[in-house]
Amino acid sequence: MSNSVKDRILELRELLHKYSHAYYNLNTSIVPDAEYDNLYDELVELESKYPDFSDEHSPTQRVGERPLDKFLQFKHKLPMLSLEKAKTEDELTQFNKRISDSLDSNDEIEFCCEPKLDGVALSLHYQNGLLKRAVTRGDGLTGEDVTQNAKTIKSVPLKLFGKNHPVFLEVRGEAYIPLEKFELMNDRSVGSGEKSFANPRNAASGSLRQLDSKIASSRPLFFSAYSVGDFDGSDLQLDQYSHYRRLQQLQNIGLAVSPLLKKVKGIDAVIEYCHGILRKRDDLGFEIDGVVIKVDSLAQQQALGFVARAPRWAIAFKFPAQEQLTTLLDVEFQVGRTGAITPVARLAPVLVGGVTVSNATLHNQDEINRLSIKIGDTVTVRRAGDVIPQIVAVLTERRPLEARDIVFPSQCPVCGSAVERVTGEAVARCRGGLFCPAQLKESIKHFVSRKAMDIDGLGDKLVEQLVDQQLINTTADIYQLDMPALIGLDRMAEKSALKLLNAIKASCQTSLARFIYALGIREVGEATALNLAQHFGSLPALLNASLEQLLAVNEVGKIVAEHLQSFFAEPHNQQVITALQAAGINWPDIELQPASAQPLAGHTVVLTGTLISMGRDDAKARLQQLGAKVSGSVSAKTYAVVAGDNAGSKLAKATELNVPVWTEQQMLVLFSENGVA
Ligand code: IVH
Repeated sequence: MSNSVKDRILELRELLHKYSHAYYNLNTSIVPDAEYDNLYDELVELESKYPDFSDEHSPTQRVGERPLDKFLQFKHKLPMLSLEKAKTEDELTQFNKRISDSLDSNDEIEFCCEPKLDGVALSLHYQNGLLKRAVTRGDGLTGEDVTQNAKTIKSVPLKLFGKNHPVFLEVRGEAYIPLEKFELMNDRSVGSGEKSFANPRNAASGSLRQLDSKIASSRPLFFSAYSVGDFDGSDLQLDQYSHYRRLQQLQNIGLAVSPLLKKVKGIDAVIEYCHGILRKRDDLGFEIDGVVIKVDSLAQQQALGFVARAPRWAIAFKFPAQEQLTTLLDVEFQVGRTGAITPVARLAPVLVGGVTVSNATLHNQDEINRLSIKIGDTVTVRRAGDVIPQIVAVLTERRPLEARDIVFPSQCPVCGSAVERVTGEAVARCRGGLFCPAQLKESIKHFVSRKAMDIDGLGDKLVEQLVDQQLINTTADIYQLDMPALIGLDRMAEKSALKLLNAIKASCQTSLARFIYALGIREVGEATALNLAQHFGSLPALLNASLEQLLAVNEVGKIVAEHLQSFFAEPHNQQVITALQAAGINWPDIELQPASAQPLAGHTVVLTGTLISMGRDDAKARLQQLGAKVSGSVSAKTYAVVAGDNAGSKLAKATELNVPVWTEQQMLVLFSENGVA
């Protein structure tokens, strides 16, 4: 084998290590994704051509290996300890006093603070800079050897940067799964009939303890280092004074440390830090259960020593838990705009992560079956990030004798119409259509909403009153409202009534696209409505379209086409549309251009970065009006990339592939030249 091949292989490994550290651990991207992929492919090819030169620490070796029968036990050289806990500011102040007294120091102590990640502890062993072993915490004394799985975690370096590493270095940290990735992973498992995980911590622990590392490699595990454990080597480069500096060193040799890591002086600054993290908790993107506070000086740490199984120099400030036990009091069934019936759990109110929770969604019958839940059960509710509270588990052993089954209604709880469940779909629906007051209310709320007919002043409460008092029975009735009808309503004075009537009148001047969207046809969102308007140009053309004609519209597939057809075939809907037009709703004509005359016909355009003048969806719809196909990824075939603010890897890729890059301004000029401004 020639030396140049060998050098290239080494160079590729070095580059890929560097790029993936930047990407996974520093959240910056040095090169476009495509460049990374190209180098990676080149390395895979070279390694397979020259197997003599393979290396278990190559970046290509993260794909998982043969399944194990069981994990080997491994005894930690230094036990993996736990932390003392503080729940109040007072307890933090006492902690500070204990330390100051014990150190006999009048100076303010320096502390290193960081979020306490809610994952599983993992210990990584590096020998001369190479990852040799990864061990779970286990009982703190003995853990399991999960090396194969740890090697599949992209943020775990297989090889440390630089030279002169300690002969042995143990890095301790937390393996975890970010919230968004956790939701995706669970959706996927449920979709393929597998069981889901109750929370990201269980998912991380389950993934790390997979005997089949191929499965582990498909799990979105991350690793964040929080301390140096054991180490060995005399010409040691490790900092001898500060915990904070050691963590920086770990980052410099390729590990991830918390971006929120901070060194502060004095306990007041610690308390302030804790408040800051608590405020940010819902936006972090990963679950934390508190803040870990450590004395920064290694000399002071040593002087303070340990009590039982925890260091005296550290403490965990615990945040309110994001899972709590409560009781399922009842289940109500809510009916949405399209008739979808959602079971909603009514819970005994409970504080979860600092917020009172008294409702949680139960999604559908499948979820009820999966949980085997009954009314009266003790359940675990979970609230994290900004997602709706969920019931994640049932404590069947605490089930009371009088627990009742949850009976999914066979008739709509609001209008009494039949409930149907299409085979293959999880959702059950009321068949009452707009005869159902619940669906009617939701349809009207949608009809008047900002992106639809945009009737200002017609809020949810008012819609409910109007429907309940039977002042409106269809959306068309909105246009028959008058002063005497409105004046009789709650909290409606003459002035606001007049304002509302004006807003209703003003909404008559609209666009065909808004009108189509406002009808609330299933699966027809704004973008589809705009495509339909642009494609057919007039309402009659749309109403009379065949299935084939509908399928010819950009982004209209079989399901949407069928929803459109059944909506327009329904006599009641036809009557409402006629009545709406009779009430004066109108829109300017759309001149249809032959496809060939559209300036972007047959071309693919990619949007990236943040646009200033309009949202992504609006820009997309307008580009489509000009005939473009709008795609999410850049390739050599891309016609142009529109780059807004902070455009990242897609812009880089476009430049690399010589794809023209337009500014937002250039796109706007194109819009106005073609009358889609
Ligand atoms: S320090 C002696 N720092 O919390 C030092 N632990 O109760 C012990 N954890 O299972 C650990 N984030 O896995 C430390 N930034 C952090 C942490 C952290 C999460 C976990 C750790 C351990 C538990 C300690």
